[in-house]
Amino acid sequence: MVSFSKIALLAVAAQAAIIPTDSPAGLRIRQAGGSQGTVTWDKYSFYVNGERVMIYSGEVHPFRNPVQDLHLDVLQKVKALGFNTVSIYVHWGIVEYERGKFNWDGVFDLQPFFDAAKAAGLWVIARPGPYINGESAGGGLPGWGSRVEGQWRNSNANYTAAWQPYINSVGKIIAKNQITNGGPIIIAQPENEYSGFMNPDGSLNPDEDKEYERLLLEAFDGAGITIPTVCNDAWIGGHFTSVDVYGYDNYPAGFDCANPITSWPDPPEWFYGGQRGVAPNTPNSIVEFQGGGFDSWGGYGFEQCYKDLGPEMVRVYNKNVYASATHLLNVYMIYGGTNWGHLSNPGGYSSYDYGAAIAEDRTLREKYYELKLQANFLMVSPAYLTSAPGEVQKFPTSGSNITITELWDEVGQKQRFYIIRQTKPQEFINSAFKVTINTSVGQLTVPQLGNAAYVLPSQDSKILVTDYPAGPVNILYSTLEIMTWKVIDGRTVILLYANTGESGEISILTSTSRKVDVRRGKSSTVTFKQTSSTLTLQVVVDHETVIALGDDILLYVVDRVNAYNFWVPDVNLKQDIPVIIKGGYLLRTTKFSGNTLALTGDTNGTTVFEVIAPKSAQAYTWNGQRLDTDLTRYGTQEGRYRTKTPRVDIPDLGRVKWKYINSLPEVSASYDDSKWVTADHTYTWNKIKPTTPVILYASDYGFHSGNILWRGHFTATGGENLFNLTIQGGNAFAYSVWDNDKYLGSFTGAPAPSAHNGSYTLTPWAKGSNHVLTILQDHMGLEQNWFGGEENFKSFRGLSDYSFGGATPTLKMWKLTGNLGGEKFADWARGGYNEGGLYAVRKGYHLPGFDDSKWVSKSPLKGLTGPGVDFYRATFTLNIPDGVDYPMAIDFGARTGNSYRVEIYVNGWQFGKYVDDIGPQTSFPVPQGILNYKGENTIALSLWSLEDSGAALESIDLVIRKQIEGGISVTNSPAPNYMERANSY
Ligand SMILES: *[C@@H]1O[C@H](CO)[C@@H](O)[C@H](O)[C@H]1NC(C)=O
Ligand SMILES: *[C@@H]1O[C@H](CO)[C@@H](O)[C@H](O)[C@H]1NC(C)=O
Repeated sequence: MVSFSKIALLAVAAQAAIIPTDSPAGLRIRQAGGSQGTVTWDKYSFYVNGERVMIYSGEVHPFRNPVQDLHLDVLQKVKALGFNTVSIYVHWGIVEYERGKFNWDGVFDLQPFFDAAKAAGLWVIARPGPYINGESAGGGLPGWGSRVEGQWRNSNANYTAAWQPYINSVGKIIAKNQITNGGPIIIAQPENEYSGFMNPDGSLNPDEDKEYERLLLEAFDGAGITIPTVCNDAWIGGHFTSVDVYGYDNYPAGFDCANPITSWPDPPEWFYGGQRGVAPNTPNSIVEFQGGGFDSWGGYGFEQCYKDLGPEMVRVYNKNVYASATHLLNVYMIYGGTNWGHLSNPGGYSSYDYGAAIAEDRTLREKYYELKLQANFLMVSPAYLTSAPGEVQKFPTSGSNITITELWDEVGQKQRFYIIRQTKPQEFINSAFKVTINTSVGQLTVPQLGNAAYVLPSQDSKILVTDYPAGPVNILYSTLEIMTWKVIDGRTVILLYANTGESGEISILTSTSRKVDVRRGKSSTVTFKQTSSTLTLQVVVDHETVIALGDDILLYVVDRVNAYNFWVPDVNLKQDIPVIIKGGYLLRTTKFSGNTLALTGDTNGTTVFEVIAPKSAQAYTWNGQRLDTDLTRYGTQEGRYRTKTPRVDIPDLGRVKWKYINSLPEVSASYDDSKWVTADHTYTWNKIKPTTPVILYASDYGFHSGNILWRGHFTATGGENLFNLTIQGGNAFAYSVWDNDKYLGSFTGAPAPSAHNGSYTLTPWAKGSNHVLTILQDHMGLEQNWFGGEENFKSFRGLSDYSFGGATPTLKMWKLTGNLGGEKFADWARGGYNEGGLYAVRKGYHLPGFDDSKWVSKSPLKGLTGPGVDFYRATFTLNIPDGVDYPMAIDFGARTGNSYRVEIYVNGWQFGKYVDDIGPQTSFPVPQGILNYKGENTIALSLWSLEDSGAALESIDLVIRKQIEGGISVTNSPAPNYMERANSY
């Protein structure tokens, strides 16, 4: 994903050719192993196993969800949208935290994700980098990269040697799981947004490094990756075209959370022309398309951003890209997840909710249901896949101005899709007008009956079809949108929708006279006209109207919100049993065996089920229980289900028994830092050379995340009265300084500054006296790069300059620490990024199982009376029954504006970083599996006060975000207990 802050083969086993169907010159033509499947393409679309398919995909990052079982939950939700693919990034920096030592174990193992994708019935686009961006620490690049000199993301030999082992390692995992080996992966993407380039001197270079691209593709091949490769050019710039299929990104709605909707740019119309200009022989592929937005420290919070990036955005901007005949569309993000354990870059905070269709706590937003309507339509509209945009009409109406693109099916030579949209969707003006369309019976102006108008509200777009076959039914046109259709026991069921109160028109080519029989809803809302060749109906949309047109056609005309309740399951993971289910919150799976249709899913209230299925299905179950149904007047089955969400007691975290220790022993006179790393380098690999006598850059010594502590030992010349420093930690960072045990002051931080020049008054030092300056700083994550050749991710964390006023003391030494062990981190299960450098964390006191009985009792609501760092622990028990999904969060209530920072550890996993005076995040979702829903939990908090007046939490609560019946069963992630840490300090 683009950060707008910066603009934002060896495996030739068995043979099945992967050859682009048109074999355009210049593309690689390779051999693929295995016979389970192939992935090919032509200028219109991809084919998987010989079948032409729309790739409708959602981006999910396995690394942002460290509970392996929850992948299936998210992936079933993606599948239920009607999507067929998920796309993933892999974060190199996490899995190779120490150079040469890969951690693919436990929560970092990708296999459970690929298995879950397969179980859910989804294909995967694998995007392993090396660079990924993704608002992640270092953009995926490892911290040790700071010590690899020269430019990154080009063919610099130092960089090549750095990435090759990783691509080889991850490449083999991808190869093992590609479709030709029976796995779900169909496409692989090297690099990410490799679109801008820099010279060593930092000036822009117009040329990409084609040698780097060649090396990457060679490494993919070498690892056995035989599926097609794509790129995602950050804009249609024609970069990295040596991949098989050129792809690009687009984030058309912008990221202006402050001004929802009114700040929307006009939807762009150049996608198709732009893509054809670069790669006319491959499908129009948008490898990242805006599915929400990110938010930064001091930002607006995702609920506010969602107002800008909600269902309206999906109606306007997604439909706009269909107007460009987009046949691979990956929505970034469909589920964002959490930047647990310091995984964010400094431009973001713990939540990576993204305002996505599936929220961070895995609940479903309205946008989810809007996307479901659209994806399902495209999945039953194969002619869309061979359509290309033709004429674009733009015209004013008595209301707003309208843009209509006609898509024409170049292969079938019959169907047209009209994408009708607001030219200025950011304006709040509705329109009602007539539309002129081309059909097989000539030009028509619709709606035809009476005085009705075609209605397009503001922030809306609609798709009108002509000569559209729904099985044997030929729809001449429909101004009502189609969600889906199925031929069930010889009867064609067509599901149509519009907004409540709008009238819509559908015309069917039929030479037989048909009885129009309104079986549900008010017959007064339906008017019709039959001619010798057509039957045209007009319906005023009101909740749900079901109309039989003879025995073989059944129309459901529903309002949008009611349409949200319909699901089109992939029965037994094969689209060969036609079923439509009206349900509730979520339909996960549908299995048909014997005469039983077994449905699983989630409900959040009384749910009316309707089963529209072949008669061979005679019994229905919901999550294993029999669903009692009655026959409707139109031959479907209807039943009612009352959701059971039992009340549960959860602890009041304000009142649990909290234990505490001081986590800043470093400022006591007797503190011994002899086990710390000595900052004794006089050379840095970094391009920014400091003025300090020794290098004080944390990454040079292997510390890349969390809090960093510095201790400078000096002998006074006498009269030192001022300490000046230049220190850097990333946006919203802060630091505090002590002279021996005397607090000198803090920089409390602000959203933007990533560095600070500070001046602190010293009580004049006496000649010959010994002083230790202790600096506690926050590290907000490694920066991302943006351009190839840029070295932003090496931005130092630490001091580049310091000086004294009054006199200059003699430096004895500088010591530093971050997480215990640095790159040789202490906790393999939770990974290198999880820990920071605070005393209590270095000791492992954040882990479950530590005996804190000798600690003092004190609550974080009491807190500190001055500057410093407290560390708190408490345990509590949960007993949440099976069969429900009750996502929880740790909530700090309203912000006070005081300067303090909290890190939250739940069963040893860092699941939140709260900065009270910067915000915006105050509520921190912690998933089941990190939280033990059946037994004991340990919560630990560091509380860093940056003010003389001290700091205390206003409140702390464990809250249940939503009560849902259903869910999936979750095994807890490994949460190894405390063990005394040898050589800890
Ligand atoms: C590669 O690394 C070595 C050792 O740090 C350094 O001397 C050399 O200049 C680097 N090469 C480039 C192209 O930066
Ligand atoms: C429609 O477009 C015309 C011509 O560009 C412009 O003059 C008019 O103001 C627009 N109407 C609205 C409602 O935006």
